[in-house]
Amino acid sequence: MIPGTTGYNRPSFTSAAVMTAGLPSFQQVSVIDLIRYGGSRFNSAGLTFGHSFDNALDEATQLVLHALHLPHDLSPVYGAAKVTEPELADVLALFQRRIDERVPAAYLTGEAWFAGLSFKSDARALVPRSPIAELITSGFEPWLGERDVERVLDLCTGSGCIAIATAHYQPNWNVTGIDLSDAALSLANENRERLQTPNVVLLKSNLFEALGGQHFDLIVTNPPYVTNAETDALPAEYAHEPELGLRAGDDGLDLALRILRDAPAHLTGNGLLICEVGEAEQALTRLLPELPLTWIEFKVGQMGIFVVERADLVEHHARIRELADARG
Ligand SMILES: C[S@@+](CC[C@H](N)C(=O)[O-])C[C@H]1O[C@@H](n2cnc3c(N)ncnc32)[C@H](O)[C@@H]1O
Repeated sequence: MIPGTTGYNRPSFTSAAVMTAGLPSFQQVSVIDLIRYGGSRFNSAGLTFGHSFDNALDEATQLVLHALHLPHDLSPVYGAAKVTEPELADVLALFQRRIDERVPAAYLTGEAWFAGLSFKSDARALVPRSPIAELITSGFEPWLGERDVERVLDLCTGSGCIAIATAHYQPNWNVTGIDLSDAALSLANENRERLQTPNVVLLKSNLFEALGGQHFDLIVTNPPYVTNAETDALPAEYAHEPELGLRAGDDGLDLALRILRDAPAHLTGNGLLICEVGEAEQALTRLLPELPLTWIEFKVGQMGIFVVERADLVEHHARIRELADARG
């Protein structure tokens, strides 16, 4: 940490001078210098990455471009451009907050990219980062096959990223996004406006409770799936996110089992459930070894996301219900 600076306070020119100790004078600092400097500071401070970008230099790039009001796809030729002293102060203040407060970069910039789309992101909901983005941009193929899709449900929608991105790429589908959190739903509504997706309906509900007899051809969900022990031990960055989006019992499966139990009542005849359980994958296959879950292979490998057909959920319903009911 640079001595003499604190979190929220935007530094004055004087404190900027203190902060730049070790940097060349401001007339000589370029955009690329700042990115390199931020990357080094973030690494040496031991920050945790992975909310949007998985490394220090990409996060530094995101923060620098945001503070300089430059587009995220800025041509590299501008990397050599020098920054002004006020710009330098703005960038360093943002770096300092990232380091001191461990705020995820997306909350500092107010923006997260998901499925190639720009979402508003703040502490009302988790930073969008699900690998389900890859399924959305590939039209959920090959999983949908010959199925006709009219209605899709995104359970646990958070910022609305899965529902809204799906609706964006499939304008003929009607997508319902559900969340229990009023705060998350208010952010999702803002994202619905931002991305102009009138084919999305957002609803407050405890999982399927408010849906009555509605049926969907596809249910997609990224529910909370972090175990109690893991939630308690998460790096400081995660403390800025709502715990309701993370904690899911001793084995991470409290929500997933309820979803597996109740999904058949809301899926059409040959409907599909796609569900993310992350590292709770092993616990789930231990509990339900006979249930034919297909674990999806992503570009980067398996990510704890399965697809299952309604017929298989119906066949194994008794055992799933027993497990889910035992959790109250
Ligand atoms: C892991 S976050 C996923 C958010 C978003 N789908 C995404 O991928 O970024 C899980 C979401 O589930 C919501 N949630 C937790 N328990 C719920 C429940 N019982 N019913 C509906 N939503 C719930 C949380 O508020 C949170 O927004």
